[in-house]
Amino acid sequence: MSYFQRHIFFCLNQRDNGENCCAQHGAQAAFDHCKASVKAAGLAGVGGVRVNKAGCLDRCAGGPVAVVYPDAVWYSFVDNSDIDEIVDSHLKNGQVVERLVLPDSVGR
Ligand code: FES
Repeated sequence: MSYFQRHIFFCLNQRDNGENCCAQHGAQAAFDHCKASVKAAGLAGVGGVRVNKAGCLDRCAGGPVAVVYPDAVWYSFVDNSDIDEIVDSHLKNGQVVERLVLPDSVGR
């Protein structure tokens, strides 16, 4: 059994040179919302879900992005309702939110 059941990593990368980055697309707010939602749902902690900050995940064209492990499912999201769906469906119940999955063709 792994220490955490699932990890979700949010790219919070900020670029100051004008290039596209997840920080320009509400990544911090989404991270904060996810962290609070996971905690409120009682999912946080050992044996549960860990919400982590990450630097660039190298899939910037789909930003903002997050990835769930060990499932290796990548998401692109727009607003808090998308995050709520990821928390309720995937992080809580293991059901991938297909409509938010980032296509494999999306890279940097
Ligand atoms: S800046 Fe977010 S994946 Fe690269």
